[in-house]
Amino acid sequence: MTRRQLLGAAGALAASGFGVGALAGCTPTQATATHTGWAPPAAPMKFPKGYVWGAATSAYQIEGAWNADGKGPSIWDTFSHAGEGHIADGSTGDVAADHYHLWSHDLDLLKRLGVGAYRFSLSWPRIQPTGSGAVNQKGLDFYKRLLDGLGERGIRPAITLFHWDLPQPLQDAGGWPSRDTANRFADYADIVFGAFGDIDAEWLTLNEPKTLAYNGYWYGSHAPGIMDPNAAAAAVHHQLLAHGLTVQAFTAHGVKGRIGPVLNLTPVKPTDAAAKEQTKNVDAVQNTLFLDPVLKGVYPTNAIGTANGQLPADPDRFAALVKDGDLKIIASPIGMLGVNYYGVAGVDLNGTMVKIHKTSTADWEQIWAPGLYELLMRLKKDYKKVPILITENGVPDDLMQNGLKDTARIDYLRSHFQQAARAIEAGVPLQGHYVWALIDNFEWAEGYTERFGLVNVNFDTLKRTPKKSFGWYADVIEKNAVAPK
Ligand code: FCB
Repeated sequence: MTRRQLLGAAGALAASGFGVGALAGCTPTQATATHTGWAPPAAPMKFPKGYVWGAATSAYQIEGAWNADGKGPSIWDTFSHAGEGHIADGSTGDVAADHYHLWSHDLDLLKRLGVGAYRFSLSWPRIQPTGSGAVNQKGLDFYKRLLDGLGERGIRPAITLFHWDLPQPLQDAGGWPSRDTANRFADYADIVFGAFGDIDAEWLTLNEPKTLAYNGYWYGSHAPGIMDPNAAAAAVHHQLLAHGLTVQAFTAHGVKGRIGPVLNLTPVKPTDAAAKEQTKNVDAVQNTLFLDPVLKGVYPTNAIGTANGQLPADPDRFAALVKDGDLKIIASPIGMLGVNYYGVAGVDLNGTMVKIHKTSTADWEQIWAPGLYELLMRLKKDYKKVPILITENGVPDDLMQNGLKDTARIDYLRSHFQQAARAIEAGVPLQGHYVWALIDNFEWAEGYTERFGLVNVNFDTLKRTPKKSFGWYADVIEKNAVAPK
């Protein structure tokens, strides 16, 4: 099983863990793979003045230096070092792209690209090696150098506080299924705001709590490799609580800039007229279980349970985790919503997510650019108005193409930028778009077999070489417009 084939499964099937070939072997269905009746105009589509173009990365995926300068181990160090077939190519992030040492070179690449902003994450165990107590000044110093380097180049930071690399000692104490981890996170956020709160930045609390909860605690395909739906449900609540506590700390510190979560959202569609209920359940598991508490202060009632498409945890146990006041904390007002968009999925009668569109090299990624428009319009319709940033959007190298002549990535980005422009025209408060990723990196359970970068990295020599998409994207940024093919 690869990474998100498992995320593709839902409900009872997923509870059985491995052996769920949800996305594999299915053919696109006529019912949903239709066009939307919209075509991009012949003239370039312009973006509003001040629209933020960016590129994104995360600490564990690029930094390397896994035990340098006092850094403590994270669950990803443990998971990748364990072997046991956890990572497709048996690799680790020990060195990755060695960004810890080559950071200034990478910032030069950003400058060359012309981006207005750079999204990266802070490694919690680099800053606080055991996840509680003592601070590692050398860890803070590294990020200070990085932030200064961005400032010198006129690039605005978009700082993710947490992108999955939980300090191992906190996992040993129970990890995200334990409520205490949310409090530890709020303490860590306090340290970071104390150190960097005077920098004008976009702040992102947690990256994709869904992926960590489901892949990490339900399917076991990601660190920490646990397979227990109740643990996954608890990990959802405690990550959201950590998010809310962090938003409160942000306000209390009077930090500059604005803050929000990063949610990966997936429009889902029934592949059968009789699969409506199943699709609603999957929508709850994939989307509203995260959107509703953050933006409305409530949990959907149909996400957890044993019906097809639900997260098969015990609803009473979940309800007991939600203490008085938690939802108010989780719904603390945010300054913006970060959305990671990688595509859509169909839902069948079993409540399983199935393939309805062509996938990229990553078999969990069903490419469907109009889905981005649909998603943004849904956010506009169903939720209160909050500025939106697309905090990730991208595609791995097409294995049929020479990695440097990545015209498939250009086609992908073009079509998604067009749908973003379309949504802005339709009144969606979308303010920026970050391409995943700036450079090739350690793609979690896929190791180095999937390359999402605008810049190729030779992992033997660490040499960086911009791909064709890099130049294409630089041109979009310069013109603040996306031209038709
Ligand atoms: C997202 C992750 C990011 C990267 C991309 C491909 O789910 O947030 O780290 O792995 O997928």
